[in-house]
Amino acid sequence: MTDQEARKRAEEMTQRLTTAQKIGQLIQTERLSITPDEVRAHHIGSVLSGGGSCPGENKPEDWTAMNDAYHAASLESDSGIPVIYGVDAVHGNNNVLGATVFPHNIGLGCAHDPDLIERIARVTAKEILATGVEWTFAPTVAAARNMQWGRVYESYSEDPEIITAYAGRFVRGMQDDFGEDSVIACIKHWIGDGGTKYGIDQGDTQISEEELRRIHMPPYLAAIREGVLTVMASFNSWNGYKIHGHKYLLTDVLKNELGFNGFIISDWDGCDYLHDDFHQTTALGLNAGIDMFMVSQKWREFADSVQEHLRTGAVSTERLDDAVRRILYVKIKYGLFEKPRPAERKWSNHKSFGSAEHRETAREAVRKSLVLLKNENEILPLSKDARILVAGKNADDCGHQCGGFTVAWQGISDSGEVIDESLQGAAYSGYGANAAVQKGKIIGGTSIWSGIKSAAPQAELNIDGSKADPRKHDAAIVVIGETPYAEGMGDIRQGDNTIIEMGSQIKGLMKVLHPYGDSLELRKLHPEDLEVIRKITDKGIPVVAVMVSGRPLIVNEELELSDAFVAAWLPGSEGGGVAEVLFGDYDFRGKLSFTWQKAEGDNFRRGDEIYEPLFPYGYGLAYGQKYNTVRRTAAESGA
Ligand code: BGC
Repeated sequence: MTDQEARKRAEEMTQRLTTAQKIGQLIQTERLSITPDEVRAHHIGSVLSGGGSCPGENKPEDWTAMNDAYHAASLESDSGIPVIYGVDAVHGNNNVLGATVFPHNIGLGCAHDPDLIERIARVTAKEILATGVEWTFAPTVAAARNMQWGRVYESYSEDPEIITAYAGRFVRGMQDDFGEDSVIACIKHWIGDGGTKYGIDQGDTQISEEELRRIHMPPYLAAIREGVLTVMASFNSWNGYKIHGHKYLLTDVLKNELGFNGFIISDWDGCDYLHDDFHQTTALGLNAGIDMFMVSQKWREFADSVQEHLRTGAVSTERLDDAVRRILYVKIKYGLFEKPRPAERKWSNHKSFGSAEHRETAREAVRKSLVLLKNENEILPLSKDARILVAGKNADDCGHQCGGFTVAWQGISDSGEVIDESLQGAAYSGYGANAAVQKGKIIGGTSIWSGIKSAAPQAELNIDGSKADPRKHDAAIVVIGETPYAEGMGDIRQGDNTIIEMGSQIKGLMKVLHPYGDSLELRKLHPEDLEVIRKITDKGIPVVAVMVSGRPLIVNEELELSDAFVAAWLPGSEGGGVAEVLFGDYDFRGKLSFTWQKAEGDNFRRGDEIYEPLFPYGYGLAYGQKYNTVRRTAAESGA
């Protein structure tokens, strides 16, 4: 169907709806806050799963059954408009047990491979469709500019070049031709999310409009050109003003100037921070240009509030109609009215979910994302006959190697230890009794250790390195790094003074979560890593360090002590891909999409006039390459 036909049909449909039916379409709420009966009675436009919120035993069948019930209820409502269900499938359909989990975006950025991104999006679309879901809140196209931000790993790069090359390809892979293989994409978070001062999540991006357009806007242009149907507004502010209430950026720039025809969804209760009084926030958001509201719980209050604003004229019927028309346009364009019920769709509960074929694409992504920072004495590639000691807390933990946004909002640990209040709602709004924190293991896939073991049968696992013995071990692989986190809980904050400084510049409230730590130095965040390395090198055994992390950390000492050092990022469920490169089945080809800093407080970025990092943007060794030559060449082309 052409855009024009879809728009015409949306217009006609909008005209037929009552005010209550229109308001219902503006609402998206969390599954724990709404039953199918309520969806029917209130003509609800969309339902979502917050991070870690899942039905039943969290298998595709449970999801399909749930979506089928919501869908059937929406068709039975007076308006008869089908509901759409949204999830954060940000690195595979990561909420669901048994899904193929891809590397987080930071690793994919280092792969420099737009074709791979499109293939990943296609596989992910199929695994989303396996659960009867129609919409993912991805891709994240943030250009993370400060490594203290807890969402750096959701960012492909500090620089718009790679992000822009990926954005359109991801959208194409996900939305396809809107047929039975397609899922609605949502590019996020508009705009400037990666540019906040001090890297504070949801903070203030204090930059000129020229810089906002040059660094943060290009990926959106590419995605809009590719027909992306939805955009999510960002929690952050721009020079003191919250994006959720920013008419210039939402309406004048995104919709009018860039010609975005789909709808803008708010972030999680994102309008609540526009004013102390909830009733005011609904008008502020709507009038600024938000079309659909992600309201975690208070959807009834939202509906009453919009009714009241229409009555007083604080919100015009034209604005309401425009928002509804955009939502219906997306549903029509996606072919939702023609698609069968979720349980009867082609890919529902399909056996390809988590299949070996899907996992092979993830494994390829792992291999391509690894960046070799150092390789002294050509210790790599390791011989498969070598007697290798494998140590470090991240060696045999699929949960850790997947990172945040995997099964639970904050991610999981294989030990079953709860990383934090891992359900988004629990941390944000005190959900209470029905919000069971998700536990569980990653199903399928391989840990980094099990990949090593199958490549090199003589390898031995000893997490704390205490069994290191030069008579028994030729070399050691030590897998170090961070443990899972998501969003503000991954922030690095030196002190509360930064928050106070930020808070005073933001109109409205801020939602501050407790941070991951107060330093970007690995030896301070995780002193146990240096200890394990030292225990082994003290005995004269050479160490290959593999770091699992969501960002480049300051690792001077760990790097110095190790003969080789590999940045593995957050590789996801297919840890076996790491061994395939360490043992030389494939060469290293990943190149840094982020500048690697030398010291705490440094923040050099590609293109800076003064540029003195430890490793420049674009750096990454292949086998047989010398550190200094590669470093110089990358510095010349990167900076
Ligand atoms: C995040 C979004 C996410 C949404 C829904 C928010 O907290 O900022 O990226 O899509 O939750 O889970």
